Amino acid sequence: MEQKKIRIGLLGVGNVGKGVLQILEQNKALIAERTGKSLVVTHAVVRNIEKVQGRLSPAVMLTTDALAVLRNPDVDVIVEAMGGEYPAFDYICEGLRQGKPVVTANKEVLSKHKATFFALAKEHRTNIYFEASVGGGIPLIRTLKVGLAANKIQAFYGILNGTTNFILTKLEEEGASFETVLKEAQALGFAEADPTMDISGLDSAYKLTILGSVAFKANIQLADVYYEGIATLDAKDMAYAKELGYVIKLLGIGREVAPGQMSFKVHPTMIPARHPLAHVRQEFNAVFIIGNAVGESMLSGRGAGSSPTGSAIVSDLIDIAFDDHPLGNQRNLEALEGPFSVMPLSETTSQFYVRLHALDTHGALAGITSVLGAYRIGISKIMQKNIVADEAEIVLVTHMVQEKEMTSALQDLLGTPGVREIDAKIRVGLDEG
Ligand SMILES: NC(=O)c1ccc[n+]([C@@H]2O[C@H](COP(=O)([O-])OP(=O)(O)OC[C@H]3O[C@@H](n4cnc5c(N)ncnc54)[C@H](OP(=O)(O)O)[C@@H]3O)[C@@H](O)[C@H]2O)c1
Repeated sequence: MEQKKIRIGLLGVGNVGKGVLQILEQNKALIAERTGKSLVVTHAVVRNIEKVQGRLSPAVMLTTDALAVLRNPDVDVIVEAMGGEYPAFDYICEGLRQGKPVVTANKEVLSKHKATFFALAKEHRTNIYFEASVGGGIPLIRTLKVGLAANKIQAFYGILNGTTNFILTKLEEEGASFETVLKEAQALGFAEADPTMDISGLDSAYKLTILGSVAFKANIQLADVYYEGIATLDAKDMAYAKELGYVIKLLGIGREVAPGQMSFKVHPTMIPARHPLAHVRQEFNAVFIIGNAVGESMLSGRGAGSSPTGSAIVSDLIDIAFDDHPLGNQRNLEALEGPFSVMPLSETTSQFYVRLHALDTHGALAGITSVLGAYRIGISKIMQKNIVADEAEIVLVTHMVQEKEMTSALQDLLGTPGVREIDAKIRVGLDEG
């Protein structure tokens, strides 16, 4: 008996699109055996046909006309692997309006428009799948929706961007300068020619809104996320962090700080060197999740690349193939139900690492501790490093303190006799509020 065919319209044949085609071909027999169906890309859409012509199977119809593919009754499922906000937004909407399941790897469009997509999918009795949009090949979305469905998620801490993790690993292990490491990452293909979205923390912030929406079932927007990147980090801070027993990672943190009140932040964080996240090196991604039943668990793997991202997309396609009845899989649609508020950054609490330089006199150190004392900021660790004859570099780690208190204390410190400059401020640890 001939197997049922699922006919796929692929929008975009770049890194990710090629990965999808390759996995569907390479694992054709295995997928057919697992699903009882054959998954076939019948149509592919690009802007410039010449770029890919001759490289695809002749059975794939190559076109620049996305709308014709979206509306073609002979196409069952849409995979959006183009990227960018527009026209991806219009194409995803049109696919859903046609009642077709849509699979996307596009964190930007999903982060900005997920509520519209979920509503359209519900209206047209279909679904949107986005495993590939966060953490590349790591099955994060399905784990949160299904594997951990028995839990109320209390917090998650994610290394969500491979480029920045690669750079931080090199800074830590080789002590090279930020510029040198960035150039190396670009040469190796881990960083884009324009790495701004990664370095600034924006890429992690998009992913945080998606993960947060799934974990907490709330419609989290980019405006709900405080984000800060890694551009101001110094190799010196990586070295001092090591001396103090920490490793610096760019974390995306989603946390329920009080019932119905969330905090969403992306920032460099000093993690205790023994914590599992501290061991996630190079371009790898990981998410450390705390659920009220499972306790702590962590998923880690390749967060980008043609094959890992293709793996996540094909796993969504297999999910669709398993799901004969489109409403059988309602897992995405309830994602935006919960009312919630976001705790402003100024109210959140954390430990802080501070590096400053001051005149190398006893009085200067006393002045610093007295300013911190006035704000009732306790010091958990302090080190003094001599730079030149009369100036010392002081590195300290505070106890837990509210952001706004720390900001005011640092302003006051700048006005303290002997204090020359505050050189770095980095949040420390995971047990923040
Ligand atoms: N690369 C990764 O490792 C990775 C990982 C996770 C998620 N993602 C996401 O996956 C998506 C695709 O990334 P990618 O790295 O594969 O990008 P890419 O290599 O630049 O490929 C994009 C593809 O989409 C086509 N395309 C772009 N705009 C189009 C338009 N308006 N109409 C028709 N075709 C269009 C391009 O065609 P032309 O070449 O003819 O212009 C190209 O085939 C993005 O959302 C990205 O964020 C990527």
